[in-house]
Amino acid sequence: MRKPMIAGNWKMNKSPSETVALIKELKEIQVKTNADVVVCPMTVSLFAAAQALKGSEIKLGAQNVHFEDKGAFTGECNAASLKELGVEYVIIGHSERRQYFGETDETVNKRVLKALEAGLKPIVCVGESLAQKQQGITNEVVCLQTKIALLGVTSAQIDDVIIAYEPIWAIGTGMTATPKDANDTIRAIRGAIREVFGFASERVRILYGGSMNDKNANALMSESDIDGGLIGGASLVAEKFEKVINYNR
Ligand code: PGA
Repeated sequence: MRKPMIAGNWKMNKSPSETVALIKELKEIQVKTNADVVVCPMTVSLFAAAQALKGSEIKLGAQNVHFEDKGAFTGECNAASLKELGVEYVIIGHSERRQYFGETDETVNKRVLKALEAGLKPIVCVGESLAQKQQGITNEVVCLQTKIALLGVTSAQIDDVIIAYEPIWAIGTGMTATPKDANDTIRAIRGAIREVFGFASERVRILYGGSMNDKNANALMSESDIDGGLIGGASLVAEKFEKVINYNR
């Protein structure tokens, strides 16, 4: 009942012209799954991406959004401007934002609420560190992150929320969680959502992210609760991203 989603997080890669070139390649892909395909370029490349995506089923996402409408927040970007550009999704609380830019569970929550208010669909990232994994507290960590991120979200809004479970130790390292471990953690996250939102938790899409690629996408996507992927490195090369999108080969 949950529509799969394959989202590319391009991080700080691809200038506007490179973005257009990659989108041109991606538009050639014949999507053989029923997945929603999303690309999330740098903020400065979003305008070019929106133009290049015209006439395509591929959807546009941003990598962050600020929680205020406007004002003295140098370097930030507001939700209304993203909407104006045709952005539909926005990644919030990526571990790189948390690690390098002081993002906290509280600011993640504020950004989620603002995104939803503006009609953007947040892709909320949660994930444990290697130390937390080794201590055996993965589920506690990600469930708490999820609950805080969703504080104040209404039952009418929850269907627009996407969660991405991204173990920090798996991001950009080539180390992937085993499909079973990823599925178990995602089930725990779904359980945490159920505590607050009841049966609607069965409709919330929960993605896996962290070195997901053309080789392991099929195994990950075969699990009961993994509804898609947030793909970094492998989304920057059209042939690789195509194989992730068509994970059911
Ligand atoms: P990766 O990045 O696929 O390069 O590990 C995933 C992410 O950070 O979203």
